[in-house]
Amino acid sequence: MAERILVTSALPYANGAVHLGHAVEYIQTDIYVRFLRSCGQDVVYFCADDTHGTPIEINAAKQGIPPEQFVARFHDEHQRDFRDFDIRFDYFHSTNSPENRHYAELIYGRLKDAGDIDRRDIEQTYCEKDKRFLPDRFIRGTCPNCRSTDQYGDACEKCGKTYNPTDLIDPKCALCGTPPVRRNSVHLFFKLSRHADFLQEVLKRPGFIHPGLAAQLQGFFEKGLADWDISRDGPYFGFAIPGETDKFFYVWLDAPIGYIATTEKWAKESGRAPDALAYWGKDAPTRIIHFIGKDIVYFHALFWPAVLNVAGFHIPNEIKVHGHLTVNGEKMSKSRGTMVAARDYLDLLDPSYLRYFYAANLGAGVEDLDLNLKDFRLRVNGELVNNVGNLANRALSLLAGPLEKKLAPGRAEGAGRKLVEDALARVPEVREAFEKLEYRNAIRIITEIASTANAFLQTAAPWALVKKDAEAARADLSDAADVAYLLGALLAPVTPRVSEKLFAQLGAEPLTFQALATAKYPLLDRTRPLGTPEPLLPRLEEERVNAIIKVPAGTPAAEPAKAGGKDKKTEKKPVEVKTPEAAPTPQASPGAGPAEGAPAADIEYADFAKVVLKAGRIVAAEKVMGADKLLKLDVDLGEGTPRTIVSGIAEAYAPEAVAGRRVVVVANLKPRKLKGIESRGMLLTAGSGGKDLSLLDPGDVPPGADVK
Ligand code: MSP
Ligand code: ZN
Repeated sequence: MAERILVTSALPYANGAVHLGHAVEYIQTDIYVRFLRSCGQDVVYFCADDTHGTPIEINAAKQGIPPEQFVARFHDEHQRDFRDFDIRFDYFHSTNSPENRHYAELIYGRLKDAGDIDRRDIEQTYCEKDKRFLPDRFIRGTCPNCRSTDQYGDACEKCGKTYNPTDLIDPKCALCGTPPVRRNSVHLFFKLSRHADFLQEVLKRPGFIHPGLAAQLQGFFEKGLADWDISRDGPYFGFAIPGETDKFFYVWLDAPIGYIATTEKWAKESGRAPDALAYWGKDAPTRIIHFIGKDIVYFHALFWPAVLNVAGFHIPNEIKVHGHLTVNGEKMSKSRGTMVAARDYLDLLDPSYLRYFYAANLGAGVEDLDLNLKDFRLRVNGELVNNVGNLANRALSLLAGPLEKKLAPGRAEGAGRKLVEDALARVPEVREAFEKLEYRNAIRIITEIASTANAFLQTAAPWALVKKDAEAARADLSDAADVAYLLGALLAPVTPRVSEKLFAQLGAEPLTFQALATAKYPLLDRTRPLGTPEPLLPRLEEERVNAIIKVPAGTPAAEPAKAGGKDKKTEKKPVEVKTPEAAPTPQASPGAGPAEGAPAADIEYADFAKVVLKAGRIVAAEKVMGADKLLKLDVDLGEGTPRTIVSGIAEAYAPEAVAGRRVVVVANLKPRKLKGIESRGMLLTAGSGGKDLSLLDPGDVPPGADVK
């Protein structure tokens, strides 16, 4: 029997809207699940709302509604948000469910029977007015280290020091402002310390967790693992602990059990498994994979496997950890408006853009990922809309128009066939990249395939050929359509709705990675008629992109400028500095160099040495509004942020044909404004100008390499 795979994303708290930071995780996981499915794997994907804990209980109380009602609202909202981001869970459940209560009680019972639960009398912070114990986050006071006021009970946001709430100077209850008192209470502890050897063995299992993280977790063993407090006193929103009075399971005990509960609910509703144990039973032939953010590694890599092991369940096989999202280079922030709610994004933009951008930036490591709004727009427009989108559109519109939606049979040989076969040969690389969660590599190869196909069309020029030799043009276009079909398959895990559109326009069945494993040229059934071509995705407009950041009223005006304000100045209100547009190709030699035909005077080497030439790579290209000859390029010179360069090559190159190309750049030219856009450098070209221009290629060297 084929191995069955169970994949989860962490359970979002039912305490607020899902935002674009959460989306990193759900999109990363969804891409992986779609990829596995496309490979023909038997995979299920589960998630649920995490509904318990003090903050939810308090927020519900503030709104004057029962916590059940409070979390129910988010249950609907979260499901809509995920659905509209094309995130397809097999089931989205809730930790406040009978299934979860059942498994929480069962597991607790087994921990207890195993002698792994300890009772201890501990001293805690208590508010006599609110009649509740206060979690660290509900105590505010002055930091004992730097004396900043109004800091949390566990750590100072100003100086970063962590401490106990008892260390705070002048502590106050965050709810009512009363100074809290100390009070004793009996808590239940899971004896995590007994499981150090087992956990260290688990951490060494191949593929269990990123080796860097495994090494980091070693630190806990060196200090000695602490036992884990799994109970909370009422009032608390959670499951009452059997056999105790007014004690509840700590939210982090029953939250991961929610993975099991969701499996159970799905099994019962779908009939696809008898119960959760078909996946979670100790010896079930399954692979369990958790996707989580770097902030919750401790819970998933230490507590959870130990609890499962004692209770006799299946230990997760893999824990995939990602970094956090930053927006325009900074931590997401409510006051700056960068904590963008999923819904606010969806109200303005298609989810495919963000899915693409995240994929284009995600690797297997735990580095943070930055949503720089300008990069987002340029990259998506340059690669997805222009490169991939235009390939499909160019091929299909000619085929559908003058060529009556009919494809040509495959050819015995020739450039078109080679194009398709070369592209097919790269499928294993893409597959491996997805498998290893190196999505950015997958995207790089995909865009390379698209660029090559666009270059093929550029040379074949079927738009001209069609008038002279319709069948030759049909054959070229059919091969380009084959590549578009392949790209549809490769991109389907990332941008499923784009691929669906593409498949429909090609009049073809969805193409899977499984089918690609044995696929041969030609890929499309060339006897079938095409569908109707239309643009796959509109370009991202700067204004719409910037509009996803809504700065809350009352925030100083200076702050929002960060959210792409720099582009605004240069692009939105193009200050029409009248550059000598008579020489519209300042980059492209004729205007900039000596007068045409005139022999240049000899120069000293020292003069030449003043010119800093560097190898670069065009990461994005777009037309400049109102200038036929200019392209606005983003060129990677190995400096971190790509440079904007305006170049007079638009007559010779379509934007989609240059994305990804290597170029030689004059890197120390004074910045200059062209059509209101500041250009920082110049591309070297050969040729007489206009259509007759060819970009110099430095060869296979990294961006930033010196050209001498
Ligand atoms: N409820 C817990 C998880 C319980 S799992 C048994 C939780 N919830 S959360 O809503 O705070 O986060 C859900 C997931 O989203 C976590 O994996 C978290 O790391 C991830 N992210 C939350 N904010 C994020 C970013 N800004 N960037 C990337 N991922 C982020 O933790
Ligand atoms: Zn209080």
